[in-house]
Amino acid sequence: MRAVVHDHYGDPSQVLRLAELPPVGAPGPGEVSIRVTVRPAHPGDLLGITGGDGPAGSEGKRRIPGFDGAGVVTAVGRDVADLQPGQRVAFFPVSGAWAEHVVAAASAVVAVPDEIDEPTAALMLVNPVTMRMLLRALDEAWAGTPRPFVQTAAGSSVGRLVAAAAERHDFPLVNLVRSTAGAAALTERFPSLTTISTSEPDWSARMRDALGGPASVVLDAVGGTLATDLLAGLADGGSLISYGGLSGSPVSLGATDVVGRELRIRGVSIGRWSRLDAEQRGEDVAFALATAQARPDLFEVAASYDLADFATAVGEVGRPGKVGAVLLTSPTEQSA
Ligand SMILES: NC(=O)c1ccc[n+]([C@@H]2O[C@H](COP(=O)([O-])OP(=O)(O)OC[C@H]3O[C@@H](n4cnc5c(N)ncnc54)[C@H](OP(=O)(O)O)[C@@H]3O)[C@@H](O)[C@H]2O)c1
Repeated sequence: MRAVVHDHYGDPSQVLRLAELPPVGAPGPGEVSIRVTVRPAHPGDLLGITGGDGPAGSEGKRRIPGFDGAGVVTAVGRDVADLQPGQRVAFFPVSGAWAEHVVAAASAVVAVPDEIDEPTAALMLVNPVTMRMLLRALDEAWAGTPRPFVQTAAGSSVGRLVAAAAERHDFPLVNLVRSTAGAAALTERFPSLTTISTSEPDWSARMRDALGGPASVVLDAVGGTLATDLLAGLADGGSLISYGGLSGSPVSLGATDVVGRELRIRGVSIGRWSRLDAEQRGEDVAFALATAQARPDLFEVAASYDLADFATAVGEVGRPGKVGAVLLTSPTEQSA
């Protein structure tokens, strides 16, 4: 089978290569084999390739990136009652999604109804679940009463899901994006919300006006000077909820602000989702399925490339102005 692999951590454009690997083994008890047809290339996947030191993968073995995707069940192991060969599925978290086949724990696999197309199936778990985790963190920060908040990188795939939730629940959200064109596009998409470009010199004053005062919470995926400025501008007792670092730069903490005004900083990572109880995870998956069926427009695809074109796909992930996710596909005729 084909797979995109890397032997060392580093710049994805340098370390990734296409490899021909042996077929995956038969699924064990509680596992299923999946022929993967579509998988996203998330910004977080690229961080996973860049991060770390030395050889990637254990014991000198290469590492296959990717944790989510969609495909077709090819075999089921013992004790798997609710999935059958031939069934369309989505999966998360399963290591090695940038390969044509994976063996997955059945608990990480979700049957996909016919109404959900393949690209949407591949995208329906990670970002909606992240959005749900962010909303839970928001709710804790608010202590139950919605207060004015702001999100950075609001035009991202996750940001648009947050914006849709804010519209639906009438949450007092202001969206921040980094370009005037991005602000115009997001305003068209979410006309009931205020969207401001941080490229405008008066963005901070406009944000405060739109919020009616300082923000109580910042949902931040950018970090760097933007998050540093937003942290300093929070209302007393306010929270910075960090879930990404698109700028590649750290947030500076001013002790006077953080200590004196009792600001809070909280991280949210989908990497911790598996540790949540089964009931919570079940509700998150039900939400993801319902959203994929009701709002396929929230799962926009920027571009799709065959696995062999991984280098172009990886270059596309960080392209300024890109709207939606980048997908890596593998033809359905391929088999192990
Ligand atoms: N913590 C978690 O568990 C978790 C889970 C999922 C995603 N994430 C994070 O969420 C973020 C969004 O992911 P995604 O897949 O939704 O992204 P995406 O669809 O690829 O969109 C990326 C967005 O970020 C904006 N952006 C990129 N660099 C920026 C910068 N330096 N300053 C301001 N804006 C910038 C882009 O704006 P332009 O339109 O101007 O190019 C674009 O709107 C990423 O940081 C990702 O790692 C975290």
